[in-house]
Amino acid sequence: MALIAYDEADAAAFGATRHLGDEALRAWREAIAQHVDLGPGARLLDLGSGTGSWSRALRGWWPRAEVIGVEPSAAMRERAGQPPALPGSAEAIPLDDASVDAVWLSTVVHHIPDLAAAAREVRRVLRPGGPVLIRSAFAGRHAAITLFRYFPEAIAVLDRYPSVADVEGAFAAAGFATVALAPVPQVTASSLRDAVAGLRREAHTPLQLIDDDAYAAGLRRMRQAAESATGPVVDALDLLVLR
Ligand SMILES: C[S@@+](CC[C@H](N)C(=O)[O-])C[C@H]1O[C@@H](n2cnc3c(N)ncnc32)[C@H](O)[C@@H]1O
Repeated sequence: MALIAYDEADAAAFGATRHLGDEALRAWREAIAQHVDLGPGARLLDLGSGTGSWSRALRGWWPRAEVIGVEPSAAMRERAGQPPALPGSAEAIPLDDASVDAVWLSTVVHHIPDLAAAAREVRRVLRPGGPVLIRSAFAGRHAAITLFRYFPEAIAVLDRYPSVADVEGAFAAAGFATVALAPVPQVTASSLRDAVAGLRREAHTPLQLIDDDAYAAGLRRMRQAAESATGPVVDALDLLVLR
């Protein structure tokens, strides 16, 4: 089971507030393009595709490739638009052996209960030599993510997520080796004021998993800081690439 339900309320909050703007997407496109070359007929799996924002971006960047979303939550899939994502999970991917050229997982690995099984499934569906691109906040790597400054209790939640070493270990057992690990800075909001105005607790797993008092105190700190903060909110999540 995922860390949170991804029911109607979570899916609505995620779809309303967690899709990145063009500037942030450009940063990720540049980072990903160093590792994939998706020509005509190439197939890219968006695993744990959620409300579909990455599938849409990936289709826009590589219009001649086929992007296939796979997502376990019906509420998330319903919001993802067309073409529909397939029901499935990382541990049971509804695709044939060696049928995709690259796999993208954005903020998914901490929700996968059996990472070793997921790595074996990714190995099965991915053609030999293809990249696995993992965008994530990993345990121990909270420093460049703004929310943790205002909600310090959420750091303990993040620290229960898989670390980079945990993910590398699970994928190494399935035959993968790391080829790159780098933080990718992204503009998450144009200002802290906008960030706090648009914040929805249900859209952020670490905020759902702290208690109500800690959440209320963090929100007060963030609102207060927003009164004098200048400039955009820039966060860095990591891109881990394995082959
Ligand atoms: C934080 S959301 C990210 C959605 C999307 N990848 C994005 O970045 O916008 C996490 C997603 O992982 C999905 N998920 C949960 N458990 C999963 C599993 N075992 N295999 C694949 N996806 C899973 C959830 O349903 C949810 O849509």
